Amino acid sequence: MRDDLTWSERLEHDDDVPANPTKTPTIGAIIESRLSRRDALKGAAASVAVAGTATAIGTSLFSRTAHAAGGSTLTFSPLPHGYDENSHVADGYAAQTLIRWGDPVVPGAPAFDVTNQTAEAQAQQFGYNNDYVGFMPLPMGSDSSDHGLLCVNHEYTNPDLMFPGSPASEDLTAEQVAIEMAAHGHTVVEIKREGGPWSVVADSPYNRRITTSGTEMMLTGPAAGHDRLKTSADSTGTKVIGTLNNCAGGKTPWGTVLFAEENFHGYFMGDAEQTDEARNYKRYGVPGGWYVWGKYDDRFDINKEQNEPNRFGWMVEFDPYDASSTPKKRTALGRFKHEGATTVLNKDGRVVVYTGDDQRFDYVYKFVSAGTFNPDDRAANMDLLDEGTLSVGRFDADGTLEWMPLVHGEGPLTAENGFNSQADVLIETRRAADLLGATPMDRPEDVEPNPVTGVVYMMLTNNTKRKDDQTDAANPRAVNAHGHVIEMIPPGTAADGDGANADHAATTFTWDIFLLAGDPADAEAGAMYGGDLVEGGWLSCPDNLAFDSKGRIWISTDGGPKSGIADGVWGSDVSGPGRALTRRLYACPAGAELCGPEFTPDDTTYFAAVQHPGDEKGSTFETPVTRWPDFQEGMPPRPSVQVIVKADGGPIGA
Ligand code: FEO
Ligand code: CA
Ligand code: CA
Repeated sequence: MRDDLTWSERLEHDDDVPANPTKTPTIGAIIESRLSRRDALKGAAASVAVAGTATAIGTSLFSRTAHAAGGSTLTFSPLPHGYDENSHVADGYAAQTLIRWGDPVVPGAPAFDVTNQTAEAQAQQFGYNNDYVGFMPLPMGSDSSDHGLLCVNHEYTNPDLMFPGSPASEDLTAEQVAIEMAAHGHTVVEIKREGGPWSVVADSPYNRRITTSGTEMMLTGPAAGHDRLKTSADSTGTKVIGTLNNCAGGKTPWGTVLFAEENFHGYFMGDAEQTDEARNYKRYGVPGGWYVWGKYDDRFDINKEQNEPNRFGWMVEFDPYDASSTPKKRTALGRFKHEGATTVLNKDGRVVVYTGDDQRFDYVYKFVSAGTFNPDDRAANMDLLDEGTLSVGRFDADGTLEWMPLVHGEGPLTAENGFNSQADVLIETRRAADLLGATPMDRPEDVEPNPVTGVVYMMLTNNTKRKDDQTDAANPRAVNAHGHVIEMIPPGTAADGDGANADHAATTFTWDIFLLAGDPADAEAGAMYGGDLVEGGWLSCPDNLAFDSKGRIWISTDGGPKSGIADGVWGSDVSGPGRALTRRLYACPAGAELCGPEFTPDDTTYFAAVQHPGDEKGSTFETPVTRWPDFQEGMPPRPSVQVIVKADGGPIGA
């Protein structure tokens, strides 16, 4: 454990020992790169020799013709940069706290008492470190924007900000560890607005907590029941208690929610070399040893329960409209550090899911269902994600993107390489993808199709470990401190797009760079946007995203404070003169990142999860750097879901 790191840094930086051994350039030597095919077609800066230096990229791109900042369709007055103990929203907008860590969720839940917290209370209250936010309209299937279910992930816990005395992780008591387990997982709450602000419907029968310790889940799909998933508590290899490190997520066309299991490795302790899974666990960084749960619960000690880590790292699907539904870990979507997963209904009725593996030098994946969506029979769609083809992306320098199927028996995915079945391929998805020559990316976080254009956007948060000789066309900057955004373009997508004609099931796409983040005034950063930005327009470390109904992109960030700016959310057009001209709408309080942005169907409400407020070096329970959002003596900062609205009630961004 690295005590010199904050908890959020630990999540990001634990992998100083890289998990991916294939970190040499996979597409040969440094090549003449295409940084933006679209700009090349326009005759500007046709192609740029990367030459491995960030400065060269920045200089070249900034000599291009810039669009006027006024070209954006976004009319709000953008928020300038800054960093302080409070959150901020652009003029003409208002932000409200909808639900905070500790607020009652399930019927009969006790009120929050931060100095006398118990696991029993926490399991009924809103969990810690809210991440993914999904708005599911009520009634189901409607496009209601005033009433719905808010589905929220709880990714991890910060014991130094949650517990009096700021205990180190290794000093936590059994009860504190039980509180941590109950503070992970997911929350469903019914929410409403009736002519006024949004509020949580107390004691709604929909309200639900899913936790690490208290929710039984099924393992389904090709790996379910495999010997490598069996434990002393589950001889079937199909039942798991709980879920870990629930980061981002997504929704399906049949009204279910997907939530990711990201950094599952951090919860295990022990010695991987003494297990039968040493090669597998090395590739995932198991055991990470961030938490000491194994002291109190044998399943988190891999020398007592060696297969338990194989039961995490999946995408979980559940039905939020049925509070008694059993969540299902969909093994067909692969096992890795899933950031999230977003689903699109393809024009042929098949369902396509995009999902990123959030680690430096890891990959982006796509799943195509075998069956087709039935709009008239919800039950018939419920297991569509159990059968289909998972593929991994290879980004070629000529602008093509090949999706390479991970199918047992094909290519190197054979017994010779330790893959005896499709279950083995899925349990060790990363190693299978290594063998296929996938492109190691700069931390693929959220990946989401634009509902208007069909173009798929991938957030690449950063990768300061990439060296000059490891740059490639799709990851063009060495020591990439600020991240970038890539467009993956399915065939059938016109430049300005009609998403309905896009073929998301195709095995060959093209790709483009949307922006290279960072401060354009800093030549070293090598940033690239659509042109000159307004004040506060540049961003760092793109992480999650949402689209409004006009197809404009709204990017949230995780890492701004390293550049002296608050994390938050920026909006931008994706085409026309406002393309890649980002403007800031919201700024987080000190120490926080912004997660899970989500619009109501009518764009009048924007939900955003403020995660790990106050997580700075030296910030403690007793003396935190901020007490946001309550600012009440004795109350530490509380991760909270914010509701952002326009003061006149109109659509966000207008
Ligand atoms: Fe949980 Fe990848 O951020
Ligand atoms: Ca994230
Ligand atoms: Ca993140």
